[in-house]
Amino acid sequence: MREILEQLEKKRELAKQGGGLKRIRAQHSKGKLTARERIEVLLDEGSFEEWDIFVEHRCTDFGMQDKAIPGDGVVIGYGTINGRLVFIYSQDFTVFGGSLSETHAEKICKVMDHAMRVGAPVIGINDSGGARIQEGVASLGGYAEVFQRNVMASGVIPQISLVMGPCAGGAVYSPAITDFIFMVEDSAYMFVTGPDVVKTVTHEEVSAEDLGGAATHTRRSGVADLSFENEVQTLLMTRRFFNFLPPNNRDGVPHRETADPQDRSEPSLDTLVPDNPNLPYDIKELIVKVVDEGDFFELQTGYAKNIVTGFGRMEGKTVGVVANQPMVLAGCLDISASIKGARFVRFCDSFNIPIVTFVDVPGFMPGTAQEHGGIITHGAKLLYAYAECTAPKVTVITRKAYGGAYDVMASKHLRGDVNFAWPSAEIAVMGPKGAVEIIFREESKNPQQLEERAEEYRRKFANPFVAGRRGFIDDVIFPRNTRKRICRSLAMLQKKKLQNPWKKHGNIPL
Ligand code: HXC
Repeated sequence: MREILEQLEKKRELAKQGGGLKRIRAQHSKGKLTARERIEVLLDEGSFEEWDIFVEHRCTDFGMQDKAIPGDGVVIGYGTINGRLVFIYSQDFTVFGGSLSETHAEKICKVMDHAMRVGAPVIGINDSGGARIQEGVASLGGYAEVFQRNVMASGVIPQISLVMGPCAGGAVYSPAITDFIFMVEDSAYMFVTGPDVVKTVTHEEVSAEDLGGAATHTRRSGVADLSFENEVQTLLMTRRFFNFLPPNNRDGVPHRETADPQDRSEPSLDTLVPDNPNLPYDIKELIVKVVDEGDFFELQTGYAKNIVTGFGRMEGKTVGVVANQPMVLAGCLDISASIKGARFVRFCDSFNIPIVTFVDVPGFMPGTAQEHGGIITHGAKLLYAYAECTAPKVTVITRKAYGGAYDVMASKHLRGDVNFAWPSAEIAVMGPKGAVEIIFREESKNPQQLEERAEEYRRKFANPFVAGRRGFIDDVIFPRNTRKRICRSLAMLQKKKLQNPWKKHGNIPL
């Protein structure tokens, strides 16, 4: 028996070496960790249970029958992050460049199927040369099996993709379907076709980094949510991020003990909004002062900065925060901001995470670039997402809520549960100047008169009380009490039940 045990030990050790010491050294020399080292940093110490360490590929073409490596380029299993269950797969670049074979795909599918059965999130670590070239269509089939599971899991369990090396070709579509993508700066890239193909087809010369590096995807395309300087930081931030997520769409948001009193008053908020309505202020100051212990995990920090999205906690429970940012484009909603906001709202709604919305929005962004780019369709995404959302919704209008943007930003009419306004709120069809220029066009040659009209409009409409009189605003609150009022509202909404009419699925404007 002892001999058998020793053999097992040896087999395990061999499997753990993946593609061998030379390739591990090559991986380290690029500043990258191995698949197993990444799992060690990500999961609680000693919590990882590995499966399928002895799985080998079945390919016999191109001399592959002599090149089987146990594990076949992906490490799978489950473990915990701060004590909470998570399933994981981590591609091993030292084995055939982490390329995806039929069996490699089967391993990924195995963890995904288990995660669905027990209702726990999946984290995928991507570091792969794509489809295993020697396997041809068997590998493509494997990818499609993974995609299908990504889609079925969407809205049932949270899915996070960490991109820590190449992720190219159709392979990018698995991370794309998952809920969040974090990339490592300078070593990760994602593109559908690489620089060489781009050069052949469009004659553009572009580096891999410019085409699909972390900076490109976190600032320009919006494909990735966040990037971090190195792998360890990425993994540690993923641990922090994971703490906010519910395990699945049935079990509710996690709860974390907090010493932050729910009725904490923040007198500094009374002067956050400047007297001059055209001056900006940082909406993140409000968010940080309202959430538990100032702990706010912002997503997509480099993309569509005119809207802020992220997670915080109120009385220990996760909330999603959406806020217009007056510091960028005066907080206008444009195409990118609408898409960013809509996707976040839909994630929260899928998992019944309450949404707190802070509104200071002068309207949708005007201009040909926006109209020709389809702001009508893209703006409708955000509207659709809020309207369809049945998770608790608490809204606070801090200043401007003009036009269609007022409606869109979790207004009462889109089933906002509790809608507050600060005394500085201006809720109207548009700003005073634009309004009087239209309705008093004949007086346009008399600036003095127009100014008087604007003043009258401002007095009448640039406040929260017109909406308050109609019950569109539940209360006008003191800014200093914002945290308390939101906490109470969320506590009241804990058992909220609201169902949309039965349908196969809606047809969100894509
Ligand atoms: C089999 C692969 C491989 C692949 C890399 N390797 N990619 N083996 N299938 N797709 C192997 C290499 O042969 C090499 O083996 C080892 O992995 C490391 O690769 P290197 O090229 O030495 O590494 P590096 O210089 O870092 O370059 C990494 C790379 C490059 C940029 C990823 O390997 C590359 O371009 N690979 C091909 C990428 C590709 O075209 N994939 C198919 C995309 S289409 P040894 O034994 O020497 O260590 C696709 C379709 C998916 O994925 C469709 C889904 C719907």
